[in-house]
Order: sequence, then C-alpha cells, then structure tokens
Amino acid sequence: MERVLSGMRPTGKLHLGHLEGVLKSYIEMQKNYEAYYMVADWHALTTDYEKPENVTENTIEMYKDWLSVGIDPEKATLFIQSEVKEHAELYLLLGLLTPVPWLERNPTYKEQKQEIKDRDLSTYGFLGYPVLQAADILIYNAHKVPIGEDQRPHLELTREIARRFNFLYGKFFNEPQEILTQMPKLPGIDGRKMSKSYNNAIFLSDSEKDVEEKVRQMFTDPQKIKKDDIGHPDNCVVCAFYSVYDKEKVEEVIKECRQGKRGCVDCKKQLARKLNEVLTPIREKREEIEKNIDKIKDIIIYGNKKAQKTAKETMDVVREKMKLKLDF
Ligand code: TRP
Ligand code: SF4
Repeated sequence: MERVLSGMRPTGKLHLGHLEGVLKSYIEMQKNYEAYYMVADWHALTTDYEKPENVTENTIEMYKDWLSVGIDPEKATLFIQSEVKEHAELYLLLGLLTPVPWLERNPTYKEQKQEIKDRDLSTYGFLGYPVLQAADILIYNAHKVPIGEDQRPHLELTREIARRFNFLYGKFFNEPQEILTQMPKLPGIDGRKMSKSYNNAIFLSDSEKDVEEKVRQMFTDPQKIKKDDIGHPDNCVVCAFYSVYDKEKVEEVIKECRQGKRGCVDCKKQLARKLNEVLTPIREKREEIEKNIDKIKDIIIYGNKKAQKTAKETMDVVREKMKLKLDF
C-alpha cells in the first residue's frame, strides 16, 4: 500500500470548511493508503512561540474533531509531531544540505513575513519551516501528501530536498506527490472565506443553537427585504450552503427566490435544520469521546508509538547513508 502523510497545525477548532475540504480527503484516504495524520505542534510554534499556552489544549481538540468526523485510529496512524523526536533529527540533517536561498525565495515565507506584523518572524525556525515539513513527509517516505493550494511551494521544496539527498548519498527517498484537497465552495457566514480569524465560521463543535444563530446572521441578497421581493440567490450565502448541503432542494430554492416566492427567514430556518442534521451525528460522537477522555490518551500514545516505529526505521537508513553509524 502506498503511504500518505498530512499534518495540521493545532491553531483552534475545526469548522465546516475543513470538513468539506481536508477532513473528507483524510477520511477517503485512510481506506486506500497507509495513512499518517499528524498534529503539527512544532509548526504551530514557529509562529506562536511567544504564546505556547494553547498548544496542548488545541491538540486534544484536534483529536476530538478528527475522531468525531470519522477519522479512524484503527485505519490511520494519528500522532503528535513533537512526540516523535526523530522528526527533529531528520530536520537537522536535511538542514545541512538545504541551501538558504531555496528557503528565502519560498513564496509562502515571503508572503507571511509581509502579512504577519504582530509577531517577530525573522527567526531561524520560521525560515526553516519547509525543512521541518520535508522531514515530516520524508521520514515516512510518503508517496502522497494531501494539502491545500497554499502548501504547494512546501511540497516542491520537499521534492528538491529529497532529490538533493538522493544525489549526495544514494537513492532512498521518494519524491512525494501532492493531492490537492478540494477548496470547499463554502463561504463563511459573511460571504468571505470561512476562517476562524474572520469570526465567520461554523465549527464542528457548535451546538444546535449556535448553528441556528449563525445561519440567522448569514448575509443574504441585500435587495430582498420582503418575502415577495425578487431575490438574487447568486449573492446569497444561504444559497451557497444549500448547494453543498441540500443538493436536492437547491434548484427549488433558487427558483422560488427569483420568483419572490420564498422568504429569507424560512429559507434560513430550513437550512439550519439541514446543517444540524449533518452535525448531529458528529456532535453525538464527540459527546461519546468526551465522556471517555482516557481513550483519547490511549489513541494518542498508540499512534505516537506506531509513527515512531516507522520513523526509527527511516533514521537507521539515513544515519547509515550519512556515515553516522559506529561499527562497534
Ligand atoms: N504546513 C502545513 C499547514 O500549515 C502543516 C504541515 C506540517 C504539513 N507538516 C506537514 C502538511 C506535512 C502536510 C505534510 O497546513
Ligand atoms: Fe437567500 Fe433564501 Fe433569501 Fe433567497 S430566499 S435571498 S436564497 S435566504
């Protein structure tokens, strides 16, 4: 079986945008690949090193989100990056052979240094972010890596680093291929991209009431005030959600809206009900998980051990190839 590895930084609760994008591909891939899914806590610290206090809590929340949507610890190996110390060793060794200009011209690096002004990111660790990511991937010799569009430069660098290693010490690493996770057609409740930092997300852990309230706040066609006003569903967040979560109904919603036969209040109520139908089983699973928090701990320890076993095997070969093995 081919191997797949992916990681997510534990920066907070996951939302419907994550579910439609990355989580669905995790669930799909655990069936057909030897899958490794990692909480990238060291990566989170490359930007949040001044405020590390939420990392542990966010890590546990991430496991709850993963498990509640059906990521299966029996099928996939779920682990925490910082618990598999071998990643740090490979990161160091790959750093020896990675030219600094490769890192300095990384578009993600340049962009983030421009955009993030409230923290000092002129650190060695932040520049080395893609080297750590390359170590994460190569230590499992993954064939495939599900990522979003923004991570493509990092995967390109991973391949370049793998190639350079293979050239210097003999072929060992695969050049991993990306699998682009679909960008969900799902906006946030204000019509911008759904994101925790925009405060416009519907979280997997939201209660029924939260969902009703958020749907009530969704931006609709501003020209439609009364039920019999002609509406423009193309400009309506509610309609965008129907097209993802109620495909059978969306045609009718669009038609009625355009004909002035549909009121926004009812339209929203029906959508909230539909979203809650989707979220109820996820909520129930989450409740079950929260009742038995020791089980999460067992899952974490079990996954860490499994990941470490593979990582150790890789490091044996890497040390040998880099002449770091004593023969006595
Ligand atoms: N950098 C990735 C992100 O921010 C997270 C990540 C860390 C990752 N290591 C990885 C993704 C390895 C894929 C493979 O989304
Ligand atoms: Fe949007 Fe529905 Fe109102 Fe039309 S009726 S504008 S689709 S909420």
